Amino acid sequence: MNIVLLGAPGSGKGTQAARLSHRYGIPHISTGDIFRHEIAQKTELGLKVEEYVKSGRLVPDELTVSIVSGRLTKPDCGQGFILDGFPRTVAQAESLDAYFTSAKRQLDKVVYLQMTESQAVERLSSRRQCEACGQIYNLKSQPPKEADKCDTDGGTLFQREDDKPETIRKRLVVYNELTEPLISYYRGAGLLLTVNGGQGVDSVSNEVYAALDGLEPRPA
Ligand code: AP5
Ligand code: MG
Ligand code: ZN
Repeated sequence: MNIVLLGAPGSGKGTQAARLSHRYGIPHISTGDIFRHEIAQKTELGLKVEEYVKSGRLVPDELTVSIVSGRLTKPDCGQGFILDGFPRTVAQAESLDAYFTSAKRQLDKVVYLQMTESQAVERLSSRRQCEACGQIYNLKSQPPKEADKCDTDGGTLFQREDDKPETIRKRLVVYNELTEPLISYYRGAGLLLTVNGGQGVDSVSNEVYAALDGLEPRPA
């Protein structure tokens, strides 16, 4: 099963993608997590993308597409994958279409997590993430059992550098301008599943499961 998660910053893509990955046994590919990992490791790629990610601008399409193309050829993608945060521009969506055509695979669904901007801003300002495993928390809606520690591995929780109020605003502007057009792009392709992302985490998951459980896993 090949799935794309689409939605504004803070709409819950990462939270839902982790659950879907677990449920369907396919990898969760988050371009944002890939970039943050490379930045933390100070790799060549990390140095190239650091300014974009920290300031809330998009990393150039060519670079992003080449990272994702490389990732999709890994053996763990054989039974499918969940893309979180990619595609984010029409050009990226077109390159993903080209990938599916050349790999003789198909995109099964685009799950669009719809919600208001004010809700997104509120969620992002109280988000924390585990440095070790990437697990996402929220001080208000999904707090860790012990302050600043991951429930699973005790890893330290950090606040993302792009979750500052002014960078959140910038990310929302970028989303509205460059990513929002993908809603009609995928609606036109008959692939869009619109889910109310403003509900509780479990309610969102249940709506998504109800739509995806019937899809057959597809061989590579
Ligand atoms: P990325 O990491 O993808 O950030 P984003 O799209 O802004 O989305 P977020 O990760 O902020 O939000 P989310 O939807 O995953 O929500 P989450 O589940 O965490 O990208 C970061 C940067 O990398 C970009 O700005 C860009 O620079 C670069 N980049 C990445 N991909 C790129 C691409 N394709 N092209 C170019 N550049 C790219 O949830 C948010 C919070 O809400 C959490 O605290 C969570 O616990 C809580 N929460 C989640 N669901 C619920 C719920 N239902 N109820 C209550 N709380 C909830
Ligand atoms: Mg995310
Ligand atoms: Zn952890």
